[in-house]
Amino acid sequence: MNTDTLQQVALFDKCSNFTQAREIKKTGLYPYFKSISKSNDTIVTIEGRDIIMMGSNNYLGLTHHPKVLEAARDALERYGSGCTGSRFLNGTLDLHEILEQRLAAFIGKESALVFSTGYQANLGLISALVGRNDVVLIDKLDHASIVDGAKMSYGVTERFRHGDMAQLESLLQKHSGKGLLIVVDGVYSMEGNIANLPALVDLAHRYGAALAVDDAHAVGVLGPNGEGTAAHFGLADEVDVIAGTFSKSLGSIGGYVTGTEEVIDYLKHLSRPLMFSAALPPANTAGVLAALEVMVSEPERRENLWKNTHKLQDGLKSLGYEIGASETPIVPVVIGELWDTFRFWRKVFDAGIFTNPVVPPAVPPKECRLRTSLMASHSDSQIDFALDTFAKLGKEVGII
Ligand SMILES: Cc1ncc(COP(=O)(O)O)c(C=O)c1O
Repeated sequence: MNTDTLQQVALFDKCSNFTQAREIKKTGLYPYFKSISKSNDTIVTIEGRDIIMMGSNNYLGLTHHPKVLEAARDALERYGSGCTGSRFLNGTLDLHEILEQRLAAFIGKESALVFSTGYQANLGLISALVGRNDVVLIDKLDHASIVDGAKMSYGVTERFRHGDMAQLESLLQKHSGKGLLIVVDGVYSMEGNIANLPALVDLAHRYGAALAVDDAHAVGVLGPNGEGTAAHFGLADEVDVIAGTFSKSLGSIGGYVTGTEEVIDYLKHLSRPLMFSAALPPANTAGVLAALEVMVSEPERRENLWKNTHKLQDGLKSLGYEIGASETPIVPVVIGELWDTFRFWRKVFDAGIFTNPVVPPAVPPKECRLRTSLMASHSDSQIDFALDTFAKLGKEVGII
């Protein structure tokens, strides 16, 4: 018998044994990979039906802004459809460099580096900076890209309980004398709460640790002009490295890291996710540049986002829903058990609202939830409709 075949059969066993998704599909409650055939800001077409998008990260509603679309179209004509190479070699455009200068100035750092996704920005930042004798300390609710960046590094990874500064301090003491990097999310993507940056900055200073913040969900949302979590606390100078993504408020795809010129230069020459992957395409880069401008020139968008956020948060709370620690446009609606959550998600979806079910391992088994997220462009009547729907369906199934 051919031993290669035997090995292959064993390799694929895990795929045949993975039946969970197929079982959920049979019940009609499978909520993932829903295909969108048309998108018009807050309204998307799914399965031939127009429904309200309340599960995107398009916080400022910039994906359809005329200036963003125009900039993307112009860049497509001028530079073509892709960069066909890494930033390190043939893929750097003047647009990338302009974007890096604007981002650095906007965030308040010396220098910036554009990656092709936010996921890669975190991988690239952590794996390059954390060497053999270093320790990376991460919050247990940090995004998967931070966890994976830590795994990819050659250093030691320590995880502390979400927001537990006492545990973080004891880990900093344990590893005193080594190169230390603390990495947190500025805004937590499943909870919608804000990191305690003042306490983190204080610990980082006292123990000689570097502090990096992933502001994926904070840019466009927090800070006087949407600069993010550090600006929100007035601590931009105290946070060593600020990373983020273009896939949320900036309405595109791509990521970035900002910091000192020396750190950015080091990453440019040693960060594998930057060097061994193709550069951000021209249309996306130009779109982000335009979005960054709109973000500052149209502050009413951020004001509207917060008005919408408070309206949904207050409305859900007064209906009797548990929204956890949410203090941003990410508003989780806690349902409980997994199947109850899938069933409730289906009812909400059928009623015309798109939300994201969040189940273990992302949350504890009895704290499954629908993650809703607001956009600046949601209308009052769309939020009223969502609240009426949650009121009616919640009473129907007896959760409120
Ligand atoms: C906190 C956080 N960091 C990083 C990322 C990755 O960003 P991107 O979609 O640009 O890869 C995400 C996206 O979900 C995120 O929520």
